[in-house]
Amino acid sequence: MAARRSIGIVINGVTGRMGYRQHLVRSLLAIREQGGVPLAGGGHIWPELTLVGRDPDKLASIAARHGLTEWTTDLDAALSRPDVEIYFDAQVTAQREKAIRQAIAAGKHIYTEKPLAESSGAAEELAELAAAAGIRSGVVQDKLFLPGLRKLKRLIDGGFFGKILSVRGEFGYWVFEGDWQTAQRPSWNYRLADGGGIVMDMFPHWNYVLEELFGAVRAVQCTTVTHIESRVDERGETYQADADDAAYAIFELEGGIVAQLNSSWAVRVYRDELVEFQVDGVEGSAVAGLRGCRIQHRATTPKPVWNPDLPVTESFRDQWSEVPDNDEFDNGFKVQWEAFLRHVVAGEEFHWDFESGARGVRLAEAGLQSASEGRRIELGSA
Ligand SMILES: NC(=O)c1ccc[n+]([C@@H]2O[C@H](COP(=O)([O-])OP(=O)(O)OC[C@H]3O[C@@H](n4cnc5c(N)ncnc54)[C@H](O)[C@@H]3O)[C@@H](O)[C@H]2O)c1
Repeated sequence: MAARRSIGIVINGVTGRMGYRQHLVRSLLAIREQGGVPLAGGGHIWPELTLVGRDPDKLASIAARHGLTEWTTDLDAALSRPDVEIYFDAQVTAQREKAIRQAIAAGKHIYTEKPLAESSGAAEELAELAAAAGIRSGVVQDKLFLPGLRKLKRLIDGGFFGKILSVRGEFGYWVFEGDWQTAQRPSWNYRLADGGGIVMDMFPHWNYVLEELFGAVRAVQCTTVTHIESRVDERGETYQADADDAAYAIFELEGGIVAQLNSSWAVRVYRDELVEFQVDGVEGSAVAGLRGCRIQHRATTPKPVWNPDLPVTESFRDQWSEVPDNDEFDNGFKVQWEAFLRHVVAGEEFHWDFESGARGVRLAEAGLQSASEGRRIELGSA
């Protein structure tokens, strides 16, 4: 029988939206249900989980619900266990840096939600500390593993677009204010003091998406707004929302591609998916969402003529064709967890590390700086 390689993992922030649903249930428990992560040389990695959080009742209830026995409110105690090799952080962003420093000091490998830290200085320091300690690090970059973006990457790799000219992306949906209907996102997202703001939330994603698919970001110009200034929190109390809830940005990429991305929690969806990227190339164009991806080749591109006196006579959407799956797409968070576990246990390649996470925070910071100073910010070529 193939060997089982157990690996102890501390999950901090497991009561949260991301920690519970995507990381515990859809990734780590799903990995256990499938029998572990297979290793190339035989055998498989088996995650042994310790839940960490602030509320003992919530932790005990999650553990009982999923047949787990190990949980604690004492992070230090969890990190001092010799059988724990990995620290994972899905806490609110503002609590992350402190806990990651503790985990580095304890010599654990670290995987974390984005953003890595609240400032690029802190994120870069964490990357340096992790490198000096010789630990393996990773930051969640789930969008890369979405079916829609994987199909887009396949189109790019297959040369479908020819020269790529531009990317335009729309991300967002209406986040209820919390008064007459409860908000579908936690209130800390709308308070600057608690690490909120859509730029800090979304630009780390945009950085790795742009970098891996189209080219590293060389300059950014961004306008941020707090459209909804008063919201109601989880306890029914009205608070002042001072964090940016929309960002309208232009990114100049290495190689000359221009990407224009709108991110908003104050927009109503008239799209097929909550995020969509249109890519225009000389040979063809594509529109990719979370799952779907449609294309139009230059040979099937219609020739509309601008005439406002006539009604539209053709259905532009019908002139695109759907890219087939040609593959099976597992949950993106789980796919990246499996890659990180193979990286830790078998040394397999994994480049979504703290340094790449720090570049994401750097872009968010540049976006905020551009908005506050009203000018274009260049990012170094390093
Ligand atoms: N990869 C993605 O697509 C994605 C999506 C949403 C959020 N995130 C990131 O995941 C992290 C968690 O976001 P979430 O939406 O799950 O938040 P959430 O509010 O639902 O969960 C936050 C967790 O942090 C814990 N926590 C620890 N200290 C806290 C404190 N002082 N105040 C409040 N909570 C505290 C909470 O108990 C809870 O377990 C954030 O860093 C966020 O940027 C990533």
